[in-house]
Amino acid sequence: MEGIDEYGPTYASYLGGAERIIYTADPGLIQYILQKNQKNFGKSRLQTKVLSRFAGKGLLTVEGDYWRQQRRLIQPGFHKEKLSGLVTIMVSVIDAQLNLLEAKFAKQPVVNISEEMMDMAFQIVAKSLFNTYTEAEELKKLSNNITDIQRFVIKQVRQPFKIPWYYLSGQFRDADQTARDTRKILQDFINTRRQETVEHHDLLDMLLSARYEDTGEGMTDTQLVDESLIFFSAGHETSANALAWTWYLLAEHPEVVTKIRAEIKTVLGDRAPAFMDLPNLAYTMQVVQESLRLYPPAWIMDRIALEDDEYKGLKIPKGTMIFPFIYGVHRLSDYWENPDTFDPDRFEKSKMKERAAFSYLPFGGGPRMCIGVNFAYMEMQLVLVQTLRRMSFELVNKEAVIPQPLITLRAADGIKVKKV
Ligand code: HEM
Repeated sequence: MEGIDEYGPTYASYLGGAERIIYTADPGLIQYILQKNQKNFGKSRLQTKVLSRFAGKGLLTVEGDYWRQQRRLIQPGFHKEKLSGLVTIMVSVIDAQLNLLEAKFAKQPVVNISEEMMDMAFQIVAKSLFNTYTEAEELKKLSNNITDIQRFVIKQVRQPFKIPWYYLSGQFRDADQTARDTRKILQDFINTRRQETVEHHDLLDMLLSARYEDTGEGMTDTQLVDESLIFFSAGHETSANALAWTWYLLAEHPEVVTKIRAEIKTVLGDRAPAFMDLPNLAYTMQVVQESLRLYPPAWIMDRIALEDDEYKGLKIPKGTMIFPFIYGVHRLSDYWENPDTFDPDRFEKSKMKERAAFSYLPFGGGPRMCIGVNFAYMEMQLVLVQTLRRMSFELVNKEAVIPQPLITLRAADGIKVKKV
């Protein structure tokens, strides 16, 4: 936030004296880039080249006509009602993970909730995609591979000057091999599924049954592998960090935990949540939204100007890199009263209309807004509900929790908690 405090919500700098960079927390400019004139702003190399080399060519990493075609094909599968079948899958994954967590607490007083949420979010994405393939070993391998790939991508972002060394020391070769192994696991899942006739009500069923409007055909195996791999990359660490930060906030606000528990009692009593309950768990949803405001996992986005452009007198020459600073937008006092305070009530329905466009964008905005937004909200609501029925947490050392902005916003050494 120091940059914003010093220079205002938009400021420009030059990388190595050459490339022009604009950082902005101005909702108007961000809306211009992501929505109003989005055609002139492409994704940066990081997503389209670095990430796509290992995570494949799926929705997150492709552009232009191919992106449009894929988005149109896949979007209907992510509409709220279509996701209703996932509630049962998610609840059973969450309950199973909570059993493991309770067993862990029985052996040790302190756990790193960031790691636990990483496992939780991975299992949720994995089983929402491939409901039937539950062999722990295969999933563990998949999880390790994806984590390794993400770590390697982060290394390239943090220390780009070491990239030649990564080549020479064989790290690129190893990461390419890990990516190939991962694709093979996914391909095997798909092969098995193609031979089955029963429905599984998971995302793979959705991807397999999607048909292009013009040809009436479905996706090839390569496309299916690409898109499912992208769901893991885009939907695993983001949700995990969001959940970990939510536990951090709730540990500091037991009065909010009490309100969530009261809502659970009124809406659900003792029964498991069903899809139709989700809108009634409104306060829980507000907590999720407020947590995503204070700690947006996608804390910054990146775009590049394809042609010369201008916004309200600000020159944006072709090639300018623009970084919409979401974390900054979410903490601007012009748009948020007491911006650093955790206050789920600000997301009450009656107050939503007053909000300025693009002042709240944890899932981005415009045509490339997160396709998994409903999935993520549903997952977070369900994790909160099922967990708080069994336990809540207390921070071991608040001062030790330091936000670390990498590709997603996470806590540098995780968030250590005790069970209460
Ligand atoms: C709290 C959790 C999540 C957050 C904060 C988040 C955030 C975002 C953001 C900010 C973008 C836009 C990136 C850009 O325009 O440069 C995005 C795109 C995307 N997200 Fe999410 N996401 C989350 C969960 C998920 C989940 C669970 C899935 C899938 C199961 C998912 C799949 C995707 C995909 C495929 C895209 C690319 C969409 C496109 O370009 O058409 N995300 N996400």
